Amino acid sequence: MRTIGSQVGQSVTFGCWLTRRRSSGKIQFLQLRDGTGMIQGVLVKEEVDAEVWENAGKLTQESSLYVTGIVREDPRSPSGFELSVTGIEIIQIANEYPITPKEHGVDFLMDHRHLWLRAPRQRAILRIRAEIISAVQGFFDERGFTLVDPPILTPSSAEGTTNLFHIKYFDEDAYLTQSGQLYMEAAAMALGKVYSFGPTFRAEKSKTRRHLIEFWMIEPEMAFVDHEESLRIQEQFIAHVVGSVLEKCKPELAVLERDVSALERVMPPFPRITYDEALDLLKEIGMDLPWGEDFGAPHETAIAEKFDRPVFITHYPASFKAFYMKPDPNRPEVVLCADMIAPEGYGEIIGGSQRIDDPELMEQRFEEHHLSKEGYQWYMDLRRYGSVPHSGFGLGLERTVAWICGLDHVRETIPFPRMLYRLYP
Ligand code: 4AD
Repeated sequence: MRTIGSQVGQSVTFGCWLTRRRSSGKIQFLQLRDGTGMIQGVLVKEEVDAEVWENAGKLTQESSLYVTGIVREDPRSPSGFELSVTGIEIIQIANEYPITPKEHGVDFLMDHRHLWLRAPRQRAILRIRAEIISAVQGFFDERGFTLVDPPILTPSSAEGTTNLFHIKYFDEDAYLTQSGQLYMEAAAMALGKVYSFGPTFRAEKSKTRRHLIEFWMIEPEMAFVDHEESLRIQEQFIAHVVGSVLEKCKPELAVLERDVSALERVMPPFPRITYDEALDLLKEIGMDLPWGEDFGAPHETAIAEKFDRPVFITHYPASFKAFYMKPDPNRPEVVLCADMIAPEGYGEIIGGSQRIDDPELMEQRFEEHHLSKEGYQWYMDLRRYGSVPHSGFGLGLERTVAWICGLDHVRETIPFPRMLYRLYP
């Protein structure tokens, strides 16, 4: 259907599914989907063979067929074209389709996720997700980053031990990766600027609209890049991704009825506030938090509401942040880190930091965090053999898709979501 615009007046044949059929006695309208788009097929009883007319009448929702017809221009149709059907070869008459145009509950739709993917909204989301991935790769490839794949099975944790997925690795214990970061640090020492794109797993018992058990992360890691430069790269990166979707996914954004003006404002520089400033801001609106406590989703939303584009919250207390984050030399109780909070209440989309490059401090952190030194000897080696300042960050793909598409819940951002109590289909 992609090439249909250049085939006006010609006869075409293609494989497709019937989404909907309407009949007014003498005319039948077929909504046809070929995977790349939709087109309306029209049959006028007096103008087509009796067999073609009859075959069209047999088609149930989601039946598969090869259709033949003449392409006509039609400004009234959403695709701009229509098909005057001349032939129908039925592949299969579908059983009664469970998903009908009426309203269905979320659980029902999730149980039928394998079929729900065919709905226009879901197709639009998956296309935008694919465009985001392509824009991410374009951004880093054009800037000399090398794509590196960290392992999925790991012997130790990268982001704390509370939400690890434990599995048996023959006689040893292993975990599904929570983040490829530590391995990406090794890769950055070999290749300078690297990024990964892969699945990550967190056994989080949180049933929120922002949490998945299996989600995909983009994790760049950059040698000789400090915290400040990392923030500049992050804002350019996000502006590039949003810009690409705005440019290439207009029809999909329209299907989702996304307010694109909110996305058009996503231009660097992004505002930056420190953790301390964020606490003051929260206090002003009656959401007091003691220093040293982490923000929850309501706090992030309240902070984000003050800005019309993504905001960085920087310099969090070291006490509740990851062991590898570099302390601020001027104020060691806070670390050189930043979370990027998306506007419109979509929450944190990026977490990043400058990494500790001093071997002694890193040893100390292992002790403070009760991490077994033996398991991290290889990681320590990165600080022993030519340690350099370096920074990196992780973008959560699904939260980014939710924000750009304007979705209430991350469950629609991934083809087959893995959530608390949902592993089917
Ligand atoms: O802030 P996080 O935990 O950072 C890291 O894992 C770092 N090691 C990344 C790095 O510096 N290389 O996670 C990064 C992002 C979050 O901002 C969020 O967008 C997403 O990953 N994320 C989740 N997305 C969906 N479901 C979950 N359970 C998520 N947990 C984190």
